[in-house]
Amino acid sequence: MTDELPIDDIRVRKIIDSRGNFTVEVDLFIEDVMGRCSAPSGASTGDTEMKAFPKSGPDGAIKFFEDKLRSKLIGYNALDQIGFDRTIMETDGTEYMENVGGNLSTALSVANARAAASYLGIPLYSYVGGAFARSLPRPMGNVIGGGKHSREGTTIQEFLVSAQADTFLQSAYINAMTHRRIGEILSEKLKGTSVGLGDEKAWTANISDEEALEILHQAVSETSSRYHVRILKGVDFAANSFYEGGKYMYKNGPKTRDQQIDYAISFSRDHDFYFIEDPMVDTDFDGFAEITKKISQKSLVVGDDLYTTNPERLKIGIEKKSTNGILIKVNQIGSLSRTAETVRLATAAGIRNTVSHRSGETTDDFAAHLSVAFGSTFIKTGTIGGERLAKLNELIRIEEEINSN
Ligand code: PGA
Ligand code: ZN
Repeated sequence: MTDELPIDDIRVRKIIDSRGNFTVEVDLFIEDVMGRCSAPSGASTGDTEMKAFPKSGPDGAIKFFEDKLRSKLIGYNALDQIGFDRTIMETDGTEYMENVGGNLSTALSVANARAAASYLGIPLYSYVGGAFARSLPRPMGNVIGGGKHSREGTTIQEFLVSAQADTFLQSAYINAMTHRRIGEILSEKLKGTSVGLGDEKAWTANISDEEALEILHQAVSETSSRYHVRILKGVDFAANSFYEGGKYMYKNGPKTRDQQIDYAISFSRDHDFYFIEDPMVDTDFDGFAEITKKISQKSLVVGDDLYTTNPERLKIGIEKKSTNGILIKVNQIGSLSRTAETVRLATAAGIRNTVSHRSGETTDDFAAHLSVAFGSTFIKTGTIGGERLAKLNELIRIEEEINSN
């Protein structure tokens, strides 16, 4: 049995993401076996997440790698993922990875795991999750939105759907059909004017949050009857992005903290939403807890910017009973091993996880593998668009593989 797999070479390059921005891609070699990974970038980033890149951008990250990191990682045992990740963090030396950046460290971390998995001849989800990682998440896809993902959309960042069909393939397809139906309804209502697609390929139009709610409801009930499948509704307020001066600033006017709490609760009680993400600003662990206390029997209250996949922040949330769900994004915390630590803590506390894409994506499909490795309830990765389908289609392949074994 191999217990040492020394890394022979690492190549880092700039590539372009789905928003047309530069990001980084890593090829990591063990002999001639390669693990490749490219990192996505967020737009509605949490205050406590790793900086995506140093101030000098992707070029600065690559320079830091060449000057300071490369020599420490070449020859390193790829099977020691925790040590590999720790070496990157310690060499960076700052709390939010301001030298190497969360994106390059993510790409290095996942490329290392991929190379090791390929060398051993097993899929990434088995390498990270072990022999019992065999259950698939349900897809949760953004269908109407705004916030920081488009210019003129709703104040709320994302309205989401998750079809509960028998297979991942069928669930992903019905999500896409719901997305299509929403496009039709929007064109009928707005006569085709100013309807577009946001960063995650959700529909975006100059409508209010209330109009979006109505359109979502109509599309979900029609698509659900057409395919005889239950479709769960979800929302990501991304409340940080419209919180100003102590108020939640909606297009239609401001809401106080108490009004925002009641509004979030109404999504579960009055509008039957199952998935409710970041309803409060990321400093208000108690506000989250008030919402969770009222609706956790029926709905999943999910922390994204609240936790930034950080085990220390999650501990506060567990202590305060802030949520019963957590969003998982590797590049918020910058390494696979710290991500796995956060997932372990969450699972032990009965908090369900959802692995997520970022709004600026690449065609990398590691999120698909991690959602199986981590036993995620959902994978949040859009409904259409090549960079979103890279993950959904990989899960369709994984489903086939798991069912045939
Ligand atoms: P992002 O946001 O723009 O930071 O990727 C996605 C989300 O808030 O879930
Ligand atoms: Zn979010």
